[in-house]
Amino acid sequence: MTDFKSQIDLQKLPKHVAVIMDGNGRWAKRTGMPRIFGHRNGVKAVRETTEAAAEIGVKYLTLYAFSTENWSRPEAEVNALMTLLVATLGKELKTLTKNDIRLNAIGDLKRLPKDCYNELIKVIDQTKHHQRMTLTLALNYSGRWEIQDAMRKAAFAFKSGDVVNIEELDIEQYLSTQGLPDPEFLIRTSGEQRLSNYLLWQLAYAEFYFTEVMWPDFRKDDFYKALLDYQDRERRFGKTSEQLNV
Ligand code: FPP
Repeated sequence: MTDFKSQIDLQKLPKHVAVIMDGNGRWAKRTGMPRIFGHRNGVKAVRETTEAAAEIGVKYLTLYAFSTENWSRPEAEVNALMTLLVATLGKELKTLTKNDIRLNAIGDLKRLPKDCYNELIKVIDQTKHHQRMTLTLALNYSGRWEIQDAMRKAAFAFKSGDVVNIEELDIEQYLSTQGLPDPEFLIRTSGEQRLSNYLLWQLAYAEFYFTEVMWPDFRKDDFYKALLDYQDRERRFGKTSEQLNV
């Protein structure tokens, strides 16, 4: 078996990896099971990916767990997902603590069901001093919602005279990812090649990686394999290769 992990150049790691966890429903359907069975099995992939990222030295990992559009799924699936989230957060607190991982969340969190919101805030609070890695869950999140929300906050600041000059407006300070560096790398599972309203502002210069692996099957080695692919790429930020190599 190829040992992907040992081939990774630790000096060339992305600081921030964003993930679109996709394919839970199709994975379950293939085995004739309800979609929630796929989500339940997706939790193992969340744990493996979080551990893999922390072990190798990635500092920020952001997972798309629930989009604002996901509310339009059947009510039973939404409820089951929320229940799963509350249960998982409670159970994983120990692992997060053991691994020195800080939990963070982005999205319109106030609109989450109360028990889900309370559990989330509890775990965020209990892990707030952890240093090794920040795990951000995008929950009730969408990139367009975030940009709208940022504009609302900016307009409010203008009104109250906080921001005097439009040139000084630093959009990033109004985004829900404020304080996090932009992800250099995006992974999407299940063969779909879309952004699905994820981190629209922040992914402007990110490298994209698509794999056919369904999220419930995603393991540490799949994460390391993706990192190796990232390290083969040349990130130019609009410059030429020659400019980069001087
Ligand atoms: C996408 O698969 C997955 C989701 C919308 C939810 C992801 C949630 C989990 C893995 C559960 C727990 C999460 C955490 C953070 C503890 P899909 O339903 O869109 O699959 P499909 O494209 O095959 O229909």
